[in-house]
Amino acid sequence: MDLAPQLATVSHLSSHVGEIVTLRGWLYNKRSSGKLHFLEVRDGTGICQCVVFKGSVSPEDFAIAGHLGQETSLEVTGTVKPHGKLAGAYELDVAHLVVVAAPVREYPITPKEHGTDFLMDNRHLWLRSRRQHAVLRVRHSIIKAIRDFFDGRDFTLVDAPILTPNACEGTSTLFQTDYHGEPAYLTQSGQLYVEAAAAAFGKVYCFGPTFRAEKSKTRRHLAEFWMVEPEVAFLDLDGDMRLAEDLLASIVERVLTTRAEELKVCERDTSFLEKVQAPFPRITYTDAIELLRQNGHPEAKMGDDFGADEETVLSSKFDRPVIVHRYPMDLKAFYFKHDAEDPTKALNMDVLAPEGYGEIIGGGQREDSLENLESAILHHNLPRGAFEWYLDVRRYGSFPHAGFGLGVERTVAWMCGLGHVRETIPFPRMLNRLTP
Ligand code: 4AD
Ligand code: MG
Repeated sequence: MDLAPQLATVSHLSSHVGEIVTLRGWLYNKRSSGKLHFLEVRDGTGICQCVVFKGSVSPEDFAIAGHLGQETSLEVTGTVKPHGKLAGAYELDVAHLVVVAAPVREYPITPKEHGTDFLMDNRHLWLRSRRQHAVLRVRHSIIKAIRDFFDGRDFTLVDAPILTPNACEGTSTLFQTDYHGEPAYLTQSGQLYVEAAAAAFGKVYCFGPTFRAEKSKTRRHLAEFWMVEPEVAFLDLDGDMRLAEDLLASIVERVLTTRAEELKVCERDTSFLEKVQAPFPRITYTDAIELLRQNGHPEAKMGDDFGADEETVLSSKFDRPVIVHRYPMDLKAFYFKHDAEDPTKALNMDVLAPEGYGEIIGGGQREDSLENLESAILHHNLPRGAFEWYLDVRRYGSFPHAGFGLGVERTVAWMCGLGHVRETIPFPRMLNRLTP
């Protein structure tokens, strides 16, 4: 037999039926019965059952196959066949196998149940597991869908710096560092920079990691998370809401069409996602308070901010994401424009994902009056000097503009139906976790 066959990947086995191919990967699982060893080999693109029949391989190969440890790296050569039991899947009828490297000790993550802390400590290995693999592939597709959405609408990518002298989202969650003797902060949001860029390019977005020294240990807070932030010149709050709902609808559609397999691995009930189509319901903050009062929160009153509980109640009232707009100015960051009809309200919006996932988007229309912005900086006790450049955007051809930030990890958690954001990013950073 010719044993110099072609290399193949599990994802492309369908185009090699009847041919002899070599797969390179790692042993995911193994079971044996008499003259047969069934090796589940994963290669990053998928998992393939490789059948080692005593009569088809050398006695040495058969013995080796019987003693392979979990996560042995190996090369398996054999003939591609339709899987005996799974329609649409393929298996390998093994002729030969080569061990690349045997594990030096037993692999710590076994098919049995492990505690979350143990798995998080072994995150670098946990990534190899079927479910984590599926979640991160969904994440990849979400990021690709986001880029395609903005690129397809003629936005220009203008990334913001990570080391900054400014606080964008309040001073309580800043990670401070030393910048050649000066204090600097890890960015909380690229917004201030994309506002400046919108005056240069019209429609822009930045997409990168952002940092919050959140003291909260919740299922939706990370210290380091990825955010995409579009910003558009001459856009008002209504246009901003339309942009947000179009983006979300297109992300959901992309994930449903390209990641059906992965959603199945996550045991996601996709009927909820299929309902996510524009337009989304819009309610004012005032309506939201009323809704809370009628639904188990009689104590809710104007001026309250919404926590996870309140967001869960609000979003459970709708079958698709709901946009809550015009919060009290007092609850919001310094840069929001006042609502002309009620100056105590901000022209802001939050998009709450359904099924209790809560806020995934925050944004709105920006203050474009130099004078109002100067007083807001004063009112919020922010260091004026660090914002001079930002005020220039209002000094030279000020313009109405709006934008928002979408958190990638909360979006992944919602798409995959996960209970916690820690599984939505390859190496999460949280209140008590900086490793691995
Ligand atoms: O509502 P936030 O704080 O808005 C901003 O940062 C604006 N400057 C964005 C803009 O208008 N350009 O954050 C936006 C989104 C949230 O809706 C949430 O999805 C996510 O970022 N987010 C977090 N995700 C994970 N962990 C955290 N600690 C997060 N904080 C915010
Ligand atoms: Mg917010």
